[in-house]
Amino acid sequence: MVRRVALEDPSRRLGRLQSVVGSLRLHAASLESFPSVYQVFRAVQPDECYHLAAQSFVSYSFDDEFSTLNTNINGTHFVLAALKDVVPKCRFYFAGSSEMFGKVAEIPQTETTRFHPRSAYGISKVAGFDLTRNYREAYGIHASNGILFNHESPRRGFEFVTRKITSGIARILAGQSKELRLGNLEAKRDWGHARDYVEAMWAMLQQDEPDDYVVATGRSHSVWEFVRMACGMAGLDPDKYVVTDPEFYRPAEVQLLIGNPAKAQAKLGWRPSTQFADLVCEMVTADCASLGVEVPVTKSIEVE
Ligand code: GDD
Repeated sequence: MVRRVALEDPSRRLGRLQSVVGSLRLHAASLESFPSVYQVFRAVQPDECYHLAAQSFVSYSFDDEFSTLNTNINGTHFVLAALKDVVPKCRFYFAGSSEMFGKVAEIPQTETTRFHPRSAYGISKVAGFDLTRNYREAYGIHASNGILFNHESPRRGFEFVTRKITSGIARILAGQSKELRLGNLEAKRDWGHARDYVEAMWAMLQQDEPDDYVVATGRSHSVWEFVRMACGMAGLDPDKYVVTDPEFYRPAEVQLLIGNPAKAQAKLGWRPSTQFADLVCEMVTADCASLGVEVPVTKSIEVE
């Protein structure tokens, strides 16, 4: 499901779908319009629905709390309400987030850890989580929540810190930039590979019973550790290029996220297959290649 503007300008708006677009049937609809979502369900009659769409950039949710809450909460509600009416047997996945844990109540975080969101984005995801569980309990919908920790890949948007770092390094190597401006380098995240996490989403919908699952690697690294490893692979000294800029700090930060994926391992048989160093390496290599820069990428800098 994509917005109509994307269908009208596919080369610019659907760039990241290029490799699969031939095998997809795209439907125009907007999460902001209940009738449009309803019509897509009627036309497609899906067996499975993966609801990932959202305003997903935490920083932006501080600039515009209203649109983040409107789009994310109403959008999820519209999808669930339409599904219940049109295809009540359709299995439903909701993209919950580790941002729901926010100011974490325990380490590591599990399915039973209390939520304490620290942004409008986190609040909207808690609401979506509760809506999903309520549709499961009240209407018997096969609706599952994934509580996904940060998941990255070379397809990541440029505004998120991992891609900002790896694309910034590529630009420095290509002579297009002289520095890398970042915010809080101390924040720690549990970073996995998106490819692995999509498999966990799919596995949830193959279960007999719907449920809620933490999807994480169980290991955490700081932003600075990510920078150091990525720069090391590209042969750059991070101290020479990284500049901290207050503009990129958040009014309320989520300082430490680390998930315990034991339930996903036990019930879904899921395990992450990509290690942190391989993820960083893949992203640095892809961004350098896209600018035609060759780097002697090494994994010699170990950050554990
Ligand atoms: N974006 C960004 N830009 N983040 C920075 C920067 C910067 O220049 N400098 C430091 N950071 C820090 C942020 O303050 C945050 O602590 C961390 O890097 C990660 O930021 P993001 O990459 O923007 O991701 P996120 O953790 O806020 O949210 C992502 O993961 C969630 C799952 O936990 C998003 O994908 C969310 O949609 C997702 O739910």
